[in-house]
Amino acid sequence: MTSRFEPVIIGFLCNWCSYTGADLAGVARLQYPPNLRPIRVMCSGMVHPDLVMKAFSAGADGVIILGCHPGACHYVEGNTKAVARADVISMVLGDIGVDPRRFELQWISSAEASVFAQVVTSFTRRIKRLGPYKRKI
Ligand code: FES
Repeated sequence: MTSRFEPVIIGFLCNWCSYTGADLAGVARLQYPPNLRPIRVMCSGMVHPDLVMKAFSAGADGVIILGCHPGACHYVEGNTKAVARADVISMVLGDIGVDPRRFELQWISSAEASVFAQVVTSFTRRIKRLGPYKRKI
């Protein structure tokens, strides 16, 4: 049976890598689900956990942060900070009863259009399987 549920997925995309990768995916006409609502940020390390919580409380069914690969962050250690924050975010989500699988951090370079399409497709499928997020925060 196919789900008719179309999740709202908020994506925080680093300007220097994943946002450009997403752009390239569009130019290359790669297919991926239209559920992602991209928000361009200058670095994955700038995405404070509060923003992720606000996205969920505003109705997101899933949140994904996409940044530069380790060693490629334009602000040197921004993505290292993103990893530390992602661990905290996952822990807090679990503590407040939100399935941590609704959140993900991934690395996508500006040249990885096909990886972008795969990651978005895979994450969207996962959120569809989990079903709508019932607001608890
Ligand atoms: Fe892309 Fe820091 S500049 S993750």
